[in-house]
Amino acid sequence: MTTRIAARTTLTALALACVATLANAQQGKLKVGLMLPFSGTYAALGVAIENGFKLNVEEHGGKLGGREIEYIKVDDESDPAKATDNVNKLIKRDNVDVIIGTVHSGVAMAMAKAAKESGTVLIVPNAGADAVTGPMCAPNIFRSSFSNWQPAYAMGEVAAKQGKKTAMTITWKYAAGDESVAGFKEGFEKGGGKVLKQLTVPFPNVEFQALLTEIAAAKPDAVYSFFAGGGAVKFVKDYAAAGLNKNIPLYGPGFLTDGTLDAQGESAQGMLTTLHYADGLNTPRDNKFRTEYAKMFKLQPDVYAVQGYDAAQMLAIGLGATKGDISKKAEFAAAIEKAKIDSPRGTFTVGKSHNPVQDIYLRKVEGKENKVVNVAVKGLADPARGCRM
Ligand code: PHB
Repeated sequence: MTTRIAARTTLTALALACVATLANAQQGKLKVGLMLPFSGTYAALGVAIENGFKLNVEEHGGKLGGREIEYIKVDDESDPAKATDNVNKLIKRDNVDVIIGTVHSGVAMAMAKAAKESGTVLIVPNAGADAVTGPMCAPNIFRSSFSNWQPAYAMGEVAAKQGKKTAMTITWKYAAGDESVAGFKEGFEKGGGKVLKQLTVPFPNVEFQALLTEIAAAKPDAVYSFFAGGGAVKFVKDYAAAGLNKNIPLYGPGFLTDGTLDAQGESAQGMLTTLHYADGLNTPRDNKFRTEYAKMFKLQPDVYAVQGYDAAQMLAIGLGATKGDISKKAEFAAAIEKAKIDSPRGTFTVGKSHNPVQDIYLRKVEGKENKVVNVAVKGLADPARGCRM
């Protein structure tokens, strides 16, 4: 009797597995649109995100939710003026199932608008635009990275705790720079500091001399700066070449020194930054990720690689709950909302607005590493101002 029940159970399980496999086969390949910068100042960031994503897919045997993947790539050039056309190529021409992108906040906002209108699932693997998980938040939009507010607010707190009383800020004039500065100002001024002046240059310009002269004359206790990729390399080098790093510490979100230390060399040594990832975490999870990444790409991973990897993890969680059927939007979202995502950065959840709730590390540049110093803010959630879902 028991044997017969066991046999029947096994048969039922087998039949179910066959149905699931058949359903997946009928669904065909999952079309993943990778809309990232593959040229310009953020090109290296786009490549790291793609690498991270593909590493995770490889770890799932080349499939997510039981479905093979077809990639369709668009170089968005970090150009907001081309963003709507570019994202519509993926949605309307290529009919993708999911979009992974992008790095630049201005481009990401156009993508979020298109995703909200079409219902296409969008996972943002970098761009921190506060609006994406604020006023533009939607059941089909997720972020595997951060909001611009998060690392910035943490750095403001750190600077105030270090006894700095005055600061000047310098950044590119666009959403990411503006929001990063606003987050820093909020944390710094809550702790008793004062932002004296906010300097900007147009994106993606790298002519900093006049503004560095202004900083030297004003002599604030600290400078806070948002730049990334090629622009961050140039800024950190120019800041040191002007001799400013000797007297006025340069702070920033970790983008200022992540994936850039080979090129920045001596000029970045000793810098303190805050970010949701760091070198030297030395957890089994991160060590495994770093080993696998180095093996596959002959490169060391950075925060962008982690965010790409985790975008694939989030997609796999959603697809796992819907047996590969991404049209089951409510089940897809519910699975991600209740997941503990096992990231190389440390476990995180996404909260109601679909933005990571995560530890923000304080890091110090030592040689070619952004070495973890401590956890600056534990489990920091973006305030998600304006998100109604
Ligand atoms: C952004 O535009 O949101 C952005 C770009 C590069 C970074 C971080 C944020 O490294």
